[in-house]
Amino acid sequence: MTDQLTVPSAAPSPAAEPSPWWRDAVIYQIYPRSFADSDGDGIGDLPGIRSRLPYLRDLGVDAVWLSPFYASPQADAGYDVADYRTVDPMFGTLADAAALITDAHGLGLRVIVDLVPNHSSDQHEWFRRALAEGPGSPLRDRYHFRAGQGPDGSLPPNDWRSIFGGPAWTRTTNADGSPGQWYLHLFAPEQPDFNWDHPAVADEFRTILRFWLDLGVDGFRIDVAHGLVKAEGLPDVGATTEWHLLDVGVSPCFDRDGVHDIYRSWRRILDEYPGERIAVAEAWAPSLDRVANYVRPDELHQAFNFSYLGTAWEAGAQRQVIDDSLATLRTVGAPATWTLSNHDVVRHTNRLLQTDAGDVAGRRPTAVDPVAGLRRARAATLLLLALPGSAYLFQGEELGLPEVVDLPPEVRQDPAFHRASGQDGYRDGCRVPIPWEGDRAPYGFGPPDGPSWLPQPASWAALSVAAQQGDPGSTLELYRAALALRRADPALGAADNLSWRDAPDGLLVFDRAPHFRCTVNMTAAPVRLPLPGRALLTSGPVDLSGTEVEIPADTTIWWAV
Ligand code: NOJ
Repeated sequence: MTDQLTVPSAAPSPAAEPSPWWRDAVIYQIYPRSFADSDGDGIGDLPGIRSRLPYLRDLGVDAVWLSPFYASPQADAGYDVADYRTVDPMFGTLADAAALITDAHGLGLRVIVDLVPNHSSDQHEWFRRALAEGPGSPLRDRYHFRAGQGPDGSLPPNDWRSIFGGPAWTRTTNADGSPGQWYLHLFAPEQPDFNWDHPAVADEFRTILRFWLDLGVDGFRIDVAHGLVKAEGLPDVGATTEWHLLDVGVSPCFDRDGVHDIYRSWRRILDEYPGERIAVAEAWAPSLDRVANYVRPDELHQAFNFSYLGTAWEAGAQRQVIDDSLATLRTVGAPATWTLSNHDVVRHTNRLLQTDAGDVAGRRPTAVDPVAGLRRARAATLLLLALPGSAYLFQGEELGLPEVVDLPPEVRQDPAFHRASGQDGYRDGCRVPIPWEGDRAPYGFGPPDGPSWLPQPASWAALSVAAQQGDPGSTLELYRAALALRRADPALGAADNLSWRDAPDGLLVFDRAPHFRCTVNMTAAPVRLPLPGRALLTSGPVDLSGTEVEIPADTTIWWAV
């Protein structure tokens, strides 16, 4: 299960700081296959990421989170792991991973890796052997194998649905060709769910944690953190519709109280290591209260705030979710986290302008006016970066990349797209490789005229890093300026203070310290206000010459007051 490379000794973390680094960290998500391709195969890789680390240092982020780069048949872009201790050759080698960690630390960047404990790949050694050995194999107990229902066992063991569409069960075939047992997969059939009641599973993941901690990683992003434990007996839910991660709520397979024992044991391991190693939960729990359970003092450090991500661009709703997030997390002493984009949702350049409120988390992208979309996205980003706690950015948002809404079906790789009625099937549009430079694809993502695993739009020349660098009006320079200000001002750091000021309808105005104010105009029209102080940064053009300021629609201003 481990590749044979000698594991280099732990790379040192950046120097210890007075307060835990993660409480207000800005963490940049790298989607390895789409970031930088060093070998010209059209798929990004670890050496590519390594070569671009100085860009991330200059951007001003504190840490990177790498989506999975482990050995995987890529049935779900690496979230189907065949070997948790091996780097897939498509991404490089374990030595590349170690060198990346060392380089990142040398630049003052921390490195968080993805951990996928809910399921493995169907090509994982345990699962392959479980299938090959047939019913009765002890390895089948490490997954959820069951007999089917009905006289001939031809019906799935229960009514659970796959998040990617269709039943959550697939029937196996016995060695003699006869139909066999079924196995559970909450995602694709190539992603069988582990049985976390089996001690070997828990032991294995503790060892995997140590493996990567020993290599020097600063933490883990826990995939489907709310899914590991299933209700005893795997009872029916009685659901007749497809499930989506956002909508499932408390169910026999999500957010069971038993998951918290797992995280307590992981916290003890993380705490054994120097340098504040952390874990962040991807837990689509049904309420902020339930999410807070994952970040109690003896559990994980952070949890993604999907309530915030799913909130419409409307002042009342935004204020409510900000207040609720801070208040709820304060009860457990955890910092809030804020995210607008990741590799599973429609980029916020499009999403915040989509009008279908029921779809605000962005399952189905629609084309929007790109100018209006970018204006709103930039305003939203300055709001996010002014909030107390930790911010997660998704690669390319600093370039103002739009969602690619017109990918032809034949290039799409999201497994859910190809499954009947899958609702998560539009995730390729946010995963298109990053434009770095040049006037034609692949825009420096890989060698000139090389391939890219998803086609990049012709319009992306103007959005490349090189095209934006040094242009004070560019989105890249906006992010750099915001991150520099945030880094320089401890008042924007870990403290969870935030005081709302009276504001006209549709505006959010809050102070983070006696000297810092953030004003957001979420209305569709300009609003005139007395000038409250000196503008530090504006998300778009604003005339600041008078004693009053007219704040344009969808614009955020940071003030020194
Ligand atoms: C959540 C990940 O973010 C997503 O990309 C993946 O498809 C599922 N978990 C299954 O691992």
